[in-house]
Amino acid sequence: LAEVSRIRRQRRPAVVAHRGASADRPEHTLAAYELALAQGAEGLECDVRLTRDHQLVCVHDRTVDRTSSGTGVVSEMTLAQLRELDFGSWHARGAPASVLTLAELLTLTLDWPDPVRLFIETKHPVRYGALVEQLLLAELHRFGVAAPASADHSRAVVISFSPAAVWRVRRNAPMLPTILLGETARLLGGSAATAVGATGIGPSIVTLRDHPDAVDRAAASGRATYCWTVDEYADVTHCARIGVDFIATNHPGRVREWLEPG
Ligand code: G3P
Ligand code: CA
Repeated sequence: LAEVSRIRRQRRPAVVAHRGASADRPEHTLAAYELALAQGAEGLECDVRLTRDHQLVCVHDRTVDRTSSGTGVVSEMTLAQLRELDFGSWHARGAPASVLTLAELLTLTLDWPDPVRLFIETKHPVRYGALVEQLLLAELHRFGVAAPASADHSRAVVISFSPAAVWRVRRNAPMLPTILLGETARLLGGSAATAVGATGIGPSIVTLRDHPDAVDRAAASGRATYCWTVDEYADVTHCARIGVDFIATNHPGRVREWLEPG
């Protein structure tokens, strides 16, 4: 199982657009993801939360206050209430935009002519617990991406700081690649991923600057490394040098150019 659910190492890091091309467009909007795809992103990252009526929406924070025209806690609002808000105009280069559902983002990702991967991060309101993964997997099944033939062909990857969330996904969708995010010595050493069956580790760039050997150690155990959030040239070249598989960036366009000049 570990063999087939691991993603093979790439020739260079694949570029994952963190919340879309979120430096240039409002995060988690259709405009941010469309720009990322146009700029050549090979993966898209999103955070998902459950609404009061159990819909999966792409919002990072617990509340909508920072990224919309409204206020309130996402898990206490219905999708219809979220749809009344403007999630785009707060950004310097934004235009009015609707909240994005996971279904809408999956549709965009899967309709794109290239095999782009969607890295879906579950955020955990205490209120819902395991229901987040349960509904996420149901959605991935509905889109036909919950049981890929191999990790290399997988169009969805579930990522989380929560070991319990990763473990639930591995148990219920054993073919789906998973990334355990974190910064601890246990994560870098591999034992945290082993404990929950994660197929990859996801440290931040701050940690990987000081612990470059963690990438080779993960690869030796058949695990991929996903690093976030990598926006500076020196960090991009560092990641390429030490063999990071996926780098999440707010600037997918310029990072692709740095990795493939000319
Ligand atoms: O891609 C992982 C990264 O997004 C984790 O941090 O706070 O941006 O969700 P955060
Ligand atoms: Ca995230």
